[in-house]
Amino acid sequence: MQIKIAKTSECHESTVTPKSIYLNRRQFMQAGIVGSAALSLPVNSIAATGENTNPLSPPASLKPSFGSISKTAFGSTETPAPFDTATTYNNFYEFGYGKGDPEKKAASLKPYPWKINIEGEADITGAFDLEDLIKESQLEERIYRLRCVEAWSMVVPWIGIPLGSFLKKFRPNSKAKYVYFETLYDPTQMPAQNGNALDWPYREGLRIDEAMNSLTLLSVGMYGSILPNQNGAPVRLVVPWKYGFKSIKSIVTIRFVEQMPQTTWNMIAPNEYGFYANVNPGVDHPRWSQKKERRLPGGLLFPNVIDTQMFNGYQEEVASLYADMDITRFY
Ligand code: MTE
Repeated sequence: MQIKIAKTSECHESTVTPKSIYLNRRQFMQAGIVGSAALSLPVNSIAATGENTNPLSPPASLKPSFGSISKTAFGSTETPAPFDTATTYNNFYEFGYGKGDPEKKAASLKPYPWKINIEGEADITGAFDLEDLIKESQLEERIYRLRCVEAWSMVVPWIGIPLGSFLKKFRPNSKAKYVYFETLYDPTQMPAQNGNALDWPYREGLRIDEAMNSLTLLSVGMYGSILPNQNGAPVRLVVPWKYGFKSIKSIVTIRFVEQMPQTTWNMIAPNEYGFYANVNPGVDHPRWSQKKERRLPGGLLFPNVIDTQMFNGYQEEVASLYADMDITRFY
């Protein structure tokens, strides 16, 4: 991705750390959000499982005590990238701009415990413990293709819950036309936030029907385990039909809003990174083609270049969302 020094004048959204919003726990429990434990996130629940010899398996240090994870048909015919590929080739600008930086530097992120602020146009808002928010939900494994706007891709077995069922618990009202997401802003945990290459915090957004689409996943894990820090611990989005930059990591704020929110890459270069950012081989990036992608793992001798599919191959599930739109204009 192109790095440009962001002007401070471009910073329209809040750049503060999570706000101390009163936790209305009783209201939340009345809504039936807090319940029996299906997932235990704390790091102290990690169980030692011995040496890691399976390329699809995370190391022992990442084995959590997840409750049951239901397998789904999503991606059952795909071959996931090895765990090492998915966790050493990353984009997480809060830790640097090299693909290996997040893996080397993300140990400073402290993902447990973690609060999420739910704000805006909904009946139930406040600051909630992530664990409380998801322990009632049935976790699912979904194997999705992730297509980066930089024209590389990989297949990842995510664990999470459908974002739509998560959001509905807060009872968004009729003014909630979009959902806005913000990553943690804390330069002590995310050292590259001391620089101004991006206008921190990283922010993203979806139209409400995109957020409610059954493909959109709120992910808390991958490869059968919790998310490694470099992949967006403890909670991130996965929106498989959109370029990877929409899949925001380490989320601390979710806000229901009426207007289309400003988003990080769109603010930096609107002609290069649209709000919608649907994978589309028919609309090239101004500086490179989007017709093909490098499926990882690969290398110089085996670049593994494949054709990019419309909506990253998820047309059946999402094409109807854009039936009335000129998607070459609203890219
Ligand atoms: N989220 C935050 N907060 N910061 C980032 O730099 N990079 C995005 C997305 N989410 C990014 C982010 C981009 S460009 C991509 S391609 C994906 O994360 C990469 O996810 P991965 O590193 O788990 O493959």
